[in-house]
Amino acid sequence: MFAASKVPPGIALPETDAPHVRPLIELAHAGVTFPTRKGDTVVAVEDFNLTIQKEEIISLVGPSGCGKSTVLRMLAGLLKPTSGDVWIGGGTQRRGFSEVAIVFQRATLLPWLNIIKNVLYPVRVLRRPTAEDRGRAQELLELVGLADMAERMPHELSGGMQQRAAIARSLILDPKILLMDEPFGALDALTREDLQLDLLDIHARTKKTILLVTHSINEAVLLSDRVAVMSAGPGRLQDLIDIEIDKPRNHESAALPAFVDYSRRIREDIFGPRANRRATS
Ligand SMILES: Nc1ncnc2c1ncn2[C@@H]1O[C@H](COP(=O)(O)OP(=O)(O)O)[C@@H](O)[C@H]1O
Ligand SMILES: [Mg+2]
Repeated sequence: MFAASKVPPGIALPETDAPHVRPLIELAHAGVTFPTRKGDTVVAVEDFNLTIQKEEIISLVGPSGCGKSTVLRMLAGLLKPTSGDVWIGGGTQRRGFSEVAIVFQRATLLPWLNIIKNVLYPVRVLRRPTAEDRGRAQELLELVGLADMAERMPHELSGGMQQRAAIARSLILDPKILLMDEPFGALDALTREDLQLDLLDIHARTKKTILLVTHSINEAVLLSDRVAVMSAGPGRLQDLIDIEIDKPRNHESAALPAFVDYSRRIREDIFGPRANRRATS
């Protein structure tokens, strides 16, 4: 539980049955301004307010360049907000919070290590892996459907399998928060659909808090408890939508009227009211 004093003033907390439960992640008026080479500045993210509760999956969608990765990098502690605050795990992001893992678009496996050694790599950076660590790595490979691939080298695996291995690696230190920046963006459509369902399964079994950056409106609706839509230039939170579609979900969920309505709303948020009009010839 996080001390009430650590919640910044002026931030309305979501209503909850348990009065002392605080959000795991909170962005309060967070902004990031980058200096440019010409000597002026670019505002990447402005006055961004969002709270994320434990165990939820929230997606960040918005046009290219609207600041999605910048928000994710703030939460990862890779980037400090230039204005406002980022609160994570009960403290400010400036103090750091180690229980965060990131998955990027590319799996970035080390090519000279086999799959299980890649999964164990974050442990190896800290200490010598124990038999228990190796057992856990094997369990994670089972979780992501790679039980038989432990001894294979990365180049022997397809792109989807490599990304599965990267997800297993991200879980090896048992992080509370999983940040994913377009994790399926480099995969073909069918592999992507497969991994989307795997992610739902992984979430159901591990209960990680997941922030997913995606270009895909369908992916956001399918996977998320809530979708945060960002507007471009400078990046602000434009809409926040509760996705009330029963779980477990699968690709047939996309045919539900509610699913179609959520997708339409997000498309209109991004492209304006003309977005959903049919082209006429
Ligand atoms: N390190 C940086 N230096 C200068 N500008 C940056 C830097 N990182 C991102 N930007 C700019 O900030 C804006 C948001 O970028 P980004 O968060 O990567 O967007 P998205 O992930 O939504 O595509 C863009 O205009 C981008 O050019
Ligand atoms: Mg990005």
